[in-house]
Amino acid sequence: MLGLWTFQIPLLVGLLILHYLKQLWSHRHYPPGPFELPFIGNMWRFVAQLRQNVLMELGKKYGKIYTLWLGPRPMVVLSGFQAVKEWLIGHSEDFSDRTETPFLKAALKGKGIIFANGHTWKQQRHFGVVTLRKLGLGRRGMEHHIIEEAQQLVETFADEKGQPFDPSLPITNSISEVIRIVAFGKHFPKETFQKQGEAIRCFLKVFSTVSHGLYEMFPWIMKHLPGLHQKAFSTMDEAVLLAKKEIQNHKMHQTQYEPQDFIDFYLLQMKKDKDCHNSAYNEDNLAQCILELMGAGIDTTSTTLKWALLLMVNHPEIQDKVQKEIEDVFGSSCLICYQDRKKLPYTNAVIHEIMRYRYILMFGGPRQTIKDVNLYGFHIPKGTIIVPDMVTLLTDPEQWDTPEEFNPNHFLDKDGQFIIREAFLPFGAGVRVCIGEQLAHIQIFIFFTKLLSAFTFQLPEGVERLSEEIVPGLTLQPHPFKFCAIPRCSTS
Ligand code: HEM
Repeated sequence: MLGLWTFQIPLLVGLLILHYLKQLWSHRHYPPGPFELPFIGNMWRFVAQLRQNVLMELGKKYGKIYTLWLGPRPMVVLSGFQAVKEWLIGHSEDFSDRTETPFLKAALKGKGIIFANGHTWKQQRHFGVVTLRKLGLGRRGMEHHIIEEAQQLVETFADEKGQPFDPSLPITNSISEVIRIVAFGKHFPKETFQKQGEAIRCFLKVFSTVSHGLYEMFPWIMKHLPGLHQKAFSTMDEAVLLAKKEIQNHKMHQTQYEPQDFIDFYLLQMKKDKDCHNSAYNEDNLAQCILELMGAGIDTTSTTLKWALLLMVNHPEIQDKVQKEIEDVFGSSCLICYQDRKKLPYTNAVIHEIMRYRYILMFGGPRQTIKDVNLYGFHIPKGTIIVPDMVTLLTDPEQWDTPEEFNPNHFLDKDGQFIIREAFLPFGAGVRVCIGEQLAHIQIFIFFTKLLSAFTFQLPEGVERLSEEIVPGLTLQPHPFKFCAIPRCSTS
């Protein structure tokens, strides 16, 4: 018996070593990257080292391009401005597909915009861009609702009477309200919307768990096992059902008023296209699209606003200059609209610097090559995952004078006028660029100017500074914090 084991164990170890060497040999054509473990490759980094600077450190070490292995699947990372510009913008079409993985396929079934590809994606995206534009600016559009929500938030902050409080929940609630009105309209019950929000948050949380990593590597086993991934699937199904219920509601009342929200416009489009045999306008895609507006639009914008206020507390001299500029241009009037950003170059520069200095996404939207491509002499086969590392772009020392410092001068010329910078791409680039970019800009500008007109944000007594460290996750949140909102004038 002992003899058998002394033979079998070395044989097993030998086979494992052989397998590992074969793995390394077959990976030799890809851009070099960090040390990979047998079977799991670099998966462990995403769980054990989920920090903002993991990719940045790797970028510094390996340069513009390197490979991480997600089990057997290569993920090629583009790092720094030149690489992202050259490939994601210069050869946008070649990278236009979104990554398809077993988990995403099982959960989303190729529907909607964000994780859809081909004809479905093209139609839904085109519709989304056009509709968000229609719903966007102007007195009768979303801007009017955003101004109302910002005023509500001012009143909520005023209720704290200058005492320390955590602003996270009120900020998230206000941004959620805007997205609720965009997607479902004013009459959609808040409670149902909150339920959907919880389902989406639960779904997104799974991405940073071991359960998700295991599902991507061993879907055929994991789909039969219990775990967080199963909860994610069932909550997503639940959210889709709720969305479909509301679509039925809209259908019943459709003829009674002009289209006012995303569902109204979509149902009209479905009617227009009903005789078109290859139309991808249908209720499944509509339900997925509206959940994506929530998933992509709430956490991103509210996290940016949280960082904005936190940074104002830590940089009182910058807060002071913003308030002075607003006051000089508008006096005590609170009627600021998005068009007015041109009159407020310093404030506009501060907002852009907030989005650069504390970028809120772990990395840009993962893509997939639609054909074989040659990247810096490396042959990258069709279907390879490509990830643009946006943090290295926004902190590229060749693009920014003081990349690690919060410095609004990055967006000002020598005359103090606002300048947009080529390397400022927080919304991504190319054919997959964020469709909510304008909506996000409007929200951030209106909420920020409204709040800074109404309050001075200060540290609570005894606190020296708020932490600017990030909490790892899909969106890079600040650590929970409290501040005091000291009223400046009338909050009406
Ligand atoms: C500060 C706020 C936001 C940031 C930083 C942000 C950033 C991004 C990024 C980096 C991408 C991936 C782009 C790419 O692959 O190159 C993206 C895609 C997307 N975003 Fe946003 N986003 C924000 C707000 C919003 C809002 C408010 C909405 C809608 C309500 C939205 C909807 C979408 C959708 C649907 C996509 C998928 C586009 C596609 O795959 O064709 N985002 N966003």
